[in-house]
Amino acid sequence: MDRLSALPTLGVGVMYNPSLPEFLRTELDALDFLEITPDMFWTNHGPGSANQYEELESWIEILEWVVERRPVLAHNIGLSIGNAGRFDGDYVKHIESWRQRYHFPWHSDHLSFAEVTSSEGQTHNAGVALPVPLDREVLNMIVERVDIVQEIVPAPFLLENGVYFVVYPEQEMTEPQFFNELTARTGCGILLDIHNLYANARNHRFDAIEYMHELDLEKVVEAHIAGGSEFAGMYTDAHSGPCPEPVWRLLEHLVPEAPNLRAVTFEFHDSYYHFLGPQGIREQLARARSIFSEHRESSLDATSIPTRAV
Ligand SMILES: [Fe+2]
Repeated sequence: MDRLSALPTLGVGVMYNPSLPEFLRTELDALDFLEITPDMFWTNHGPGSANQYEELESWIEILEWVVERRPVLAHNIGLSIGNAGRFDGDYVKHIESWRQRYHFPWHSDHLSFAEVTSSEGQTHNAGVALPVPLDREVLNMIVERVDIVQEIVPAPFLLENGVYFVVYPEQEMTEPQFFNELTARTGCGILLDIHNLYANARNHRFDAIEYMHELDLEKVVEAHIAGGSEFAGMYTDAHSGPCPEPVWRLLEHLVPEAPNLRAVTFEFHDSYYHFLGPQGIREQLARARSIFSEHRESSLDATSIPTRAV
């Protein structure tokens, strides 16, 4: 049994955002796990600062409460694994310190880059995740970095497919080919964001099912689902409310084809909390759970999964 197939089945969860503390305290039964972006729980004062990762007390408080009751997953945004310049090993060590504290069964980041390092060594942050060119030179660089991440953090590591609004010309590989070689060479897994796939397929006119046929679905450990909206002629990953019907159909296609899928996470932006409401969030989670459990024999009872309390 390899590392990915040995992972526990978590079930259905939600991505943490600042609108959620009350929902978590009153409706925790609706979810089997919580996913967090650790970077949102601290202010990063930059390399060399005395207290580089200054934690936000009120955020830590709700996290501490949840972690006693449910498994917590880490979905980071700070790795910038596709930056051709700097790669921040200290950031990875900080993620490992959080894994030791919160016992993430696995952790993930994005197949993208947000930081750009100039030839003078200055680092700039684009503020958005940019796609990596799907070329062999980039693949070799990312393989080396995934190896470093996996040396520092013993829990399995996943990379997520991003949304992109422009396509680099003359790329050497398709995105599934890139992921397939990356996962085969490193042993890392895939976090398949079905809504990002849907947005890309819709904007760039390709078939999302064919993408899934090309991707090695044995490497998919987690799926993201979300809603989006049209803006300036493009369909965006705005995370603006419930999942559209095509995303549910893609999830229905994925679940029976991905034997190591262990978790489905619903993402929404906190500004849409009042639009969804607690009942709306529950409905999204319930629909995801019915699709997930239909094809999974194992119990989705989250109390059987280790939390820090056990
Ligand atoms: Fe996502």
